[in-house]
Amino acid sequence: MKTPAFLFRLPPETAHHLAMIGLQTLARSRTALRLLKPRADPKLARTVFGVTFPNPIGLAAGFDKNAHALLAWEALGFGFIEAGTITAKAQPGNPLPRLFRLREHGALINRMGFNNDGADAVAARLGQLRQSGRWPGVPVGINIGKTKVTPLEEAAADYVYSFQKLADFADYFVLNVSSPNTPGLRQLQGQAELSSLIRAVQTVNVTRTKPVPLLVKIAPDLDFAQIEEVLELAVQHDLAGLIATNTTLDKSSVSPAQREEGGLSGCPLQARSTEIVRFICERTTLPVIAVGGIHDPASAREKLDAGAALIQLYTGFVYGGPALLREIARDLAQ
Ligand code: FNR
Repeated sequence: MKTPAFLFRLPPETAHHLAMIGLQTLARSRTALRLLKPRADPKLARTVFGVTFPNPIGLAAGFDKNAHALLAWEALGFGFIEAGTITAKAQPGNPLPRLFRLREHGALINRMGFNNDGADAVAARLGQLRQSGRWPGVPVGINIGKTKVTPLEEAAADYVYSFQKLADFADYFVLNVSSPNTPGLRQLQGQAELSSLIRAVQTVNVTRTKPVPLLVKIAPDLDFAQIEEVLELAVQHDLAGLIATNTTLDKSSVSPAQREEGGLSGCPLQARSTEIVRFICERTTLPVIAVGGIHDPASAREKLDAGAALIQLYTGFVYGGPALLREIARDLAQ
């Protein structure tokens, strides 16, 4: 199934809401889920940081921020799902409009600003799903960020709060320090700031009976020296891996009239994000989840050839729909 054409005639965020309503409806129907579910191809399965993934193609963070449709994503064929970004407190995000299509570039610009229900509400939703006995069979990652009103100096406590609420539900956990749409957030990628953030979360994590694999999601706008600093911290603090990359602030590839404020995703990001994945994989054995501009089987292979252990889709999925997912899976299985 391709993305239904009528969705592109609607404002982007309306289309997103409609798609989510459809997916939530699907998630509630046991029959539809059973009919849709693709047969897992054992050739595509892999174990990364101790977690087994039925295939390496995941849903990137930001699409299902509040974990409303986990079972639907599994039925569409995703090998894992990253919910979030979730913040400690619920927040509305930035004023609308805040999502823009650049269709001829296969791109989006967004300045959503972490609109989400907050850690308490999402934890309650996930608790109910687990109690209902309908938890997805694919790994679930949980991605957390800083609440906008929390001062940067108190960021660690904000992340720790969300971690404690949500860790029981996560096969892996992501500290998002790379969204361009929360003022100051990217400063948390600085060596001192990132070190104390990871330390705070790992201090709680290691007290768990089974610590959760912890990853950090980085921006494509870091330079290589900054990435090397992140790699040092990753080793020091026993990170399970990195996610590369978030959206970019570099809009030189699109016309000035299209340069809305926010982060650019999709095809214009492909080369830079692959370059970063390759840079990391040449220097460490740390597993990398690669995301940025994957829009066809060749761009998916490019990320895996650069050394990625797993890949994720967002913008490519918006334009290509579930058909893209199956096309990539078929290609990788060959
Ligand atoms: C995102 N992305 C994102 N990332 C994240 O860690 N937390 C989030 O809440 C969001 N929200 C979000 C909203 C929208 C509308 C978009 C387009 C993107 C970033 C996303 O997960 C991914 O890293 C980038 O979009 C690059 O991948 P694609 O889109 O080029 O496949």
